[in-house]
Amino acid sequence: MLRVIAIDGPAASGKSSTAGLVAERLGWAHLDSGALYRALTLAALDTIGEGGRGTLKDMEGEGWSGPRIVALAEQLPVRLVLTGDVFRPEVAGVDVEEAIRSDRVTRHVSALAAIPEVRTWVNAQQRRAVAGVGGVVVDGRDIGTVVFPEAPLKIFLTATADERARRRLSQRGQVVDVDLVRRESQALAVRDAADSTRPIAPLKPAADAVLLDTTALTLQQQVARVVELARGLFPA
Ligand code: DC
Repeated sequence: MLRVIAIDGPAASGKSSTAGLVAERLGWAHLDSGALYRALTLAALDTIGEGGRGTLKDMEGEGWSGPRIVALAEQLPVRLVLTGDVFRPEVAGVDVEEAIRSDRVTRHVSALAAIPEVRTWVNAQQRRAVAGVGGVVVDGRDIGTVVFPEAPLKIFLTATADERARRRLSQRGQVVDVDLVRRESQALAVRDAADSTRPIAPLKPAADAVLLDTTALTLQQQVARVVELARGLFPA
């Protein structure tokens, strides 16, 4: 039995926090697939340039073609490295876990994640990474649908855009006022729309995913729910 738990959902739905804590509780490793898309985006921005106004077409004009980005990823290299129980993103041997969370990377990552060659490369890295590891909680957008469709447990997390905006702002230590929530919520909706309507591997729940609406749940409650499902499914 493949010892993978797939956790998918829209931006700021708490996937990575949930996946990290579930992994800790089970003694499994945690792999955040978004971190690999972000590390590739960081590498491409630094090496190839800002790429026009942010549409994929502009970026192709600037050299953001799939084959070029994949070649860059291999050459630098861009990698996920298992450190303790967490896969950490590296570019040219440097840990980029913090650098990949910048607004600049966030603004460009959806366009890069829509490139077919990039997705094929990222998926291969993920499949290679979990081989030989006792159990891995993987979070992203297409883990249950494309990367590990055979995962015995698939979770799709949702929450209203306003609630996700509120969580994101308070995570950043910002004052959560109505205007800020509205703006952040709109920005999240734009990224969700881009991720849900792309032709390849759009964000959507797998047919056999467990849907978990976390709008009214605490992080601890959602973690407990996933751990309970996992304990019922995976032999210890
Ligand atoms: O989860 P995140 O915000 O760090 O993800 C960054 C971007 O990467 C997100 O806008 C969509 C993309 N992504 C994806 O297309 N497929 C995944 N499995 C994970 C992330």
